[in-house]
Amino acid sequence: MDINNIRKEFPILDRKVYGKKLVYFDNAATSQRPLSVISKWNEMTTVSNANIHRAVHRLADEATEAYEEARNAVKNHIKAGSREEIVFTSGATASINLVAFSFGERFVKEGDEILVSEAEHHSNLVPWQLLCQRKGAVLKPVPVKDDGTLDLAALDQLCSEKTRLVAVAHVSNVLGIVNPVKEIVRICHSKGIPVLIDGAQGIVHCDVDVADLDCDFYVFSGHKAYAAPGTGVLYGKRKWLDEMPPYMGGGEMVGTVKFSGTTFAELPLKFEAGTQNMAGAATLKPALEFAEAVRKDDGMRKYEDEVKEYLWEKLVSFPGLRLFGNPADKSAKIPLFSFAIDGVHHEDLALLLDKMGIAVRSGQMCAEPLMDRFGVSGMLRISLAPYNTMEEAEYFMESLEKAAGMLR
Ligand SMILES: Cc1ncc(COP(=O)(O)O)c(C=O)c1O
Repeated sequence: MDINNIRKEFPILDRKVYGKKLVYFDNAATSQRPLSVISKWNEMTTVSNANIHRAVHRLADEATEAYEEARNAVKNHIKAGSREEIVFTSGATASINLVAFSFGERFVKEGDEILVSEAEHHSNLVPWQLLCQRKGAVLKPVPVKDDGTLDLAALDQLCSEKTRLVAVAHVSNVLGIVNPVKEIVRICHSKGIPVLIDGAQGIVHCDVDVADLDCDFYVFSGHKAYAAPGTGVLYGKRKWLDEMPPYMGGGEMVGTVKFSGTTFAELPLKFEAGTQNMAGAATLKPALEFAEAVRKDDGMRKYEDEVKEYLWEKLVSFPGLRLFGNPADKSAKIPLFSFAIDGVHHEDLALLLDKMGIAVRSGQMCAEPLMDRFGVSGMLRISLAPYNTMEEAEYFMESLEKAAGMLR
C-alpha cells in the first residue's frame, strides 16, 4: 500500500478550503469515506433500495442480503462468536443507551454502582447517569493519572459487591491513550463484574478481538471508521442479550403480537425495531475491509508511526504547550494529540488554523469532567487517519507556530 494510492480513494481530500489544500486533522470526530464506501452507499440507494427483512421481492432480497453481509463482516472483524451477538444501531451513543436502558432494567437496582473512567466521552457517561437516577444507583468515576493513563489500582479498589457494570473507553477521544482493556476485563471479571468497552475510537486504531478480550459488550460507530454516518454496532455476549428486555418496540422485533401480549424476535432482531439504516449499514463491510487492509500493511503502519512520533516530539518541545495524555509507553497512544497553549484560546487557534486549510477540533470534546480534571476550559485536538501525510504534519507545525505567534 502506498499513501498516494490511499489518498486517491478519498475524493474529499482533493478539495480546497479558503484556497488552501485541505488538511483534515479531525478524524476522531468523523473520518472521511473511501470510494468503496461511497459506491456501496450509492448502489444501495440507486440499485437495491427496499426495506429489509420484510418483502419477498428481488429488491428486498438484495437489500437484506447486503445488510446481513455487513453483519457477517462485523462479526468476523471483531471475532465475535455469532451473528446473533451483533446488533446494528445508529452509533456508539445509541448502543450505550441501549445497554444502559436494557441491562439496567434487568440487572440494576437501588444502591448498586456503575463505574466509568474520568476520561469518558459524555456518551459513555450520561446514559449511565440517567440509569442511576432512574434506579437510585450510584455512578462512580475511576480516576486518570497525570499522564492520562487510567489508575488501575483505583479501579481495583472501587470494584465492590455493589458494582453492576464497568464502562470504559478502549481509546480515549481526548487523550488518545489505549486503555489496557484486557487487563481491565480481567480485574472486573475476577470480581464477577461485566465490562462494556466503548470502542468508538478503538475500532479505528486497534485490532479488536472480543473473544480474546472477553468483554461483555463492545460498541462503536460506523462514521468514525470510514462507514456511513447513522450506523453503529453493539456487540454483546449472548448470555446478556438473551436476558435483556427489548429497548424499543416496533416492526420486525416481534414474534407474535396480540392485544393479550407480544412475543419477541430472536437475537439480534429483538433489538432492531423499525426500519433500519439499510443503505448505511451495508457500508460497514467495505469500511472495515479498508480499515483492516491498512492495519495489516506493515509499511502503512510504519509511516503512520513516523508521523505520530514527529508530531509528538514537536508538540512536547513547543514553548508553552501542555500536552494531555503523554504516556511513557509510546505504543499506548494513537495519532491523536490534545493540548493547550499558554495565553492562547483554543477556539481562536482553531479558527486561525481553519483559515490555513487545517481542520482541527477545539473545546471540551464531549468530556467535560476530564477538562475539570486537568483544570482547563477546553483543548485543541488533532487526530490523524492513515491518509494523513508527513507533509501535512510539517505544514501543521509551521501553521501552529504562526497562529500561536499571532495570538500570544
Ligand atoms: C470515545 C467515544 N465514545 C463515544 C462517542 C460517541 O460517538 P457517536 O456520536 O458516533 O455516537 C465518541 C464520539 O466522538 C467517542 O469518541
